Amino acid sequence: MSELELHRRYPRTGSIPRVELAELPTAVDSVDGLGQKLGIGTLWVKRDDLTAPRYGGNKVRKLEFLLGHALAEEHESVWTVGAVGSHHVLATSLYARQVGLQPHALHFPQPVTDHVREVLYALSTTRPHLDLVDSKHALPVELAKYHVRKWLSRAESPYYIPGGGSSPRGVLGYVNAALELARQIDNGELPVPDAIFVAAGTCGTLAGLQLGCRLADLPTSIVGVRVVDKVLANPLVTANLANRAGKILADYGVEVPRIRARDIEIIDDQIGPGYGEPTSAGREAMRTMDAAAGVELDPTYTAKAFAGLIDYQKKADRPLRDVLYWHTLSSADLGDLVEEADVESDLPEEYQSFFPGKP
Ligand SMILES: Cc1ncc(COP(=O)(O)O)c(C=O)c1O
Repeated sequence: MSELELHRRYPRTGSIPRVELAELPTAVDSVDGLGQKLGIGTLWVKRDDLTAPRYGGNKVRKLEFLLGHALAEEHESVWTVGAVGSHHVLATSLYARQVGLQPHALHFPQPVTDHVREVLYALSTTRPHLDLVDSKHALPVELAKYHVRKWLSRAESPYYIPGGGSSPRGVLGYVNAALELARQIDNGELPVPDAIFVAAGTCGTLAGLQLGCRLADLPTSIVGVRVVDKVLANPLVTANLANRAGKILADYGVEVPRIRARDIEIIDDQIGPGYGEPTSAGREAMRTMDAAAGVELDPTYTAKAFAGLIDYQKKADRPLRDVLYWHTLSSADLGDLVEEADVESDLPEEYQSFFPGKP
């Protein structure tokens, strides 16, 4: 197993349960010319789209600790939740199956686009157990039912992975990611950035980066760009997640700083009409990044995060010198999985109407 930066700095954390899924460290690239165009010194991109060739993005770092914990607790299956086209459900199911755990998921509806169908094709290859509810408002009741079943049957119940993989265990993946960046700075791969920008959904990525940068004593501002409702993504939720992850680390001898809600910076003005609704600033950010770096952004998360970075600089009193955009979207091609999919036999009856024909 390759040594994580977390383990190098704090050897006792090497015994925190984990499975190895990611190819780390991910690269940090500077994008020639784009910084100047945006009015900053240099724009850097942390390439977490490349965390794993099979399926990358930010889920992989979280799943290393989540699936490791599920195996350590001797579960045979995992259970998670998301919309029918959820990348989180796909990543969780792919990697759960890879490490020998049966994936289960609770799906709620969203408009079925070609992209959603592609995700479902790929998901079907993991032979998941799926339940489809009528609306996301059914989730709290389903979650309560799960906890009652778990209380009654303990280890026989699936290991619960919350939406986005943002539990304290999942956050550890991003504490390590921040320490990995600190190492790259020490190695001279990039200077200390003035600011890091990242999409904030369930806030696990932001929480881990905040705690990891504090552990590494980086003076960098960590800015989350909110892409979901404020009840889900806010400084209180983020600080709470960071502190609960910190508690796990403290059990392994790490001296952990307390993160306060006022330490967390979240930009609220990029979400536009709502979660998943494209914005014109996001579309412009997608075009800008693609033209300058050939990096593809998605309208729901990463385009809004990058648009937040562009807008932040426009409003800043002084030009920022080095700014890092943390790229969290998988760039893996799902083509092979779509090819091998057999949705008729591997997805439940109620999903069949989503597939008028194979793409
Ligand atoms: C591509 C992408 N970026 C960012 C995020 C947000 O990460 P987090 O949920 O940890 O805030 C997600 C969450 O699903 C995502 O899919």
